[in-house]
This record gives sequence, structure tokens and C-alpha cells, in this order.
Amino acid sequence: MKITATLKTPDQTATLARRLGIVLARGDTILLSGDVGAGKTHFARALIQSLLAMPEDVPSPTFTLVQVYDAASGAEIWHADLYRLSDPSETEELGLPEAMEQAICLIEWPDRLAALRPQDALDITLAATDVEDHRILSATWSDPRWDAKLNDWIS
Ligand SMILES: Nc1ncnc2c1ncn2[C@@H]1O[C@H](COP(=O)(O)OP(=O)(O)OP(=O)(O)O)[C@@H](O)[C@H]1O
Ligand SMILES: [Mg+2]
Repeated sequence: MKITATLKTPDQTATLARRLGIVLARGDTILLSGDVGAGKTHFARALIQSLLAMPEDVPSPTFTLVQVYDAASGAEIWHADLYRLSDPSETEELGLPEAMEQAICLIEWPDRLAALRPQDALDITLAATDVEDHRILSATWSDPRWDAKLNDWIS
């Protein structure tokens, strides 16, 4: 399945991210693809902040690779940026496989996962356009659980 949307401002991207946050539960993984500066962290930050138990900054996990947050629901939120991952096996040391089962995971640069890329994730790609600040968002999935979750997401 596939949905696309044009996001004309950073605010529109943040709004869509927060609307997705509402339907997320433990075991849900969002893979965020797109070039450097496409808006992956911007999307993740808005989503995470909308779910936090206590307000806090959401820095890009560029160097830490993973940042973990507590959602008001009690779930953990894992935010990963795998750009600097040297090998997919490193995700085991980071604890990502378990997190993908038990937490809400937002993963930038998921191509680094290679064969460890989860099949039941929601795949989101952000792409720049000729117009400054415009982004095209495409969301694709094959797991049917996303059908219901995304019913009212982009309307
Ligand atoms: N419509 C838009 N949606 C999202 N971000 C936008 C939009 N228009 C402009 N921007 C800007 O683009 C930048 C995106 O930066 P961000 O760090 O989110 O990129 P990224 O995809 O995470 O890059 P990286 O691969 O380096 O992690 C931000 O400065 C944001 O304000
Ligand atoms: Mg980023």
C-alpha cells in the first residue's frame, strides 16, 4: 500500500508526524529514508515530542546513533540514525532488534540495516522538490495492521 502527500512547510511535516504518533504502539517501527536535509529528524522530533511523558529536547542521534525516550503511554521510543553504522551486526550491540519488538522505533537511514530491515515496518521517504521547503512524503507498507492505523492519517 502507498500514500503520498506534499508538505509545503516544516509545520505541515510536523503536523503529519504528530498525527501518525497518535496511532503508534509498542512494536511499531517507522523507517525514515531520504537524502541529507530531507526532514527525517524534523519529522521524528515532532512525532516524539508529541508522545513524551515529560517535555525534553530531541537532538539528532547523528553521533550517539540511538536516543531513547519515555512516552506518556509507558512505551519506550527509540530514535536511531544509522548513517554512521559500520556494519548491520552493530545494531545487535545497540539493542535495536529487541527494541523493534518492544518499543516504538523511528529509524533514519534504514538502508544500513540491509537484511535486518524489518518487513512489518512503515516505510516513509521524504524528498526535496524544486520548491524550497516543499517535501514529498511517500509512505509504503505491506503489513496489513497499518491499513487501519493509517486510515485517517492523510486526508
Ligand atoms: N517541508 C519541510 N519538512 C521538513 N523539513 C523542512 C521542510 N522545509 C524545510 N525543512 C527544513 O529542512 C531541514 C531538515 O533537516 P533534518 O535534520 O530533519 O534532515 P534529515 O533528513 O534528518 O537529515 P540527515 O540525513 O542529515 O539526518 C530542517 O532545517 C527543516 O527546517
Ligand atoms: Mg536526521
